Amino acid sequence: MAQRPGAQKWVPTGAGLDALREAAAGCEGCELHVAATQTVFSTGSALARVALVGEQPGDAEDRQGAPFVGPAGQLLNRALDAAGLDRADCYVTNAVKHFRFTATPKRRLHQTPELVHLQACRPWLTAELAVVDPEIVVCLGATAARSLLGPEFRVTRQRGILFPRATQAPDPAMVQSGWLMATIHPSAVLRAPDRDDTFAGLVRDLVVAAEALVPS
Ligand code: URA
Ligand code: SF4
Repeated sequence: MAQRPGAQKWVPTGAGLDALREAAAGCEGCELHVAATQTVFSTGSALARVALVGEQPGDAEDRQGAPFVGPAGQLLNRALDAAGLDRADCYVTNAVKHFRFTATPKRRLHQTPELVHLQACRPWLTAELAVVDPEIVVCLGATAARSLLGPEFRVTRQRGILFPRATQAPDPAMVQSGWLMATIHPSAVLRAPDRDDTFAGLVRDLVVAAEALVPS
């Protein structure tokens, strides 16, 4: 049978997070690995109850090798704090693990990943979410929502709504217990003219996620 395009053949079966991270470092499942510095996998523990899924690493993440460490990451930290969530207790990852950009003489300009990149990279997301099996997966922005909630999903209309993961996940391997929810991307707050309101909206959605957790 022909090999499915994408990351699948690099994903070790039955692996834990450390083995997945190590294998992802060598992934050539799409062309994005060529220009990027390194694979940016995830931070957080397999025991995390909340998973946060961003779009793709940005410039800072590409250099440092960890998700959400640049300006969007700082904003995310503040929003999590305000929502009563501890980032150290969250599993933080991205829908696409390599930075997609156009190089200009001055800087590397972010380019939104396309459907082909989301599909190529989804086996990593499937594998890591299967290991972590969090109580709630929060998609940060339209790209993560597109990957996990499907192309029809609209963040503007459907943000902050809890969906059972079992009915929404496009990939049967992702069908597990718990909730799936989307909100805006933290960088949308950085770009918004009404920054305070936009930040408050992000926090409101994260509070919905926090309140969905079974009291421990
Ligand atoms: N934006 C993302 O979506 N992910 C990161 O890791 C950083 C910025
Ligand atoms: Fe592999 Fe994903 Fe990187 Fe593409 S973006 S090379 S599928 S890790």
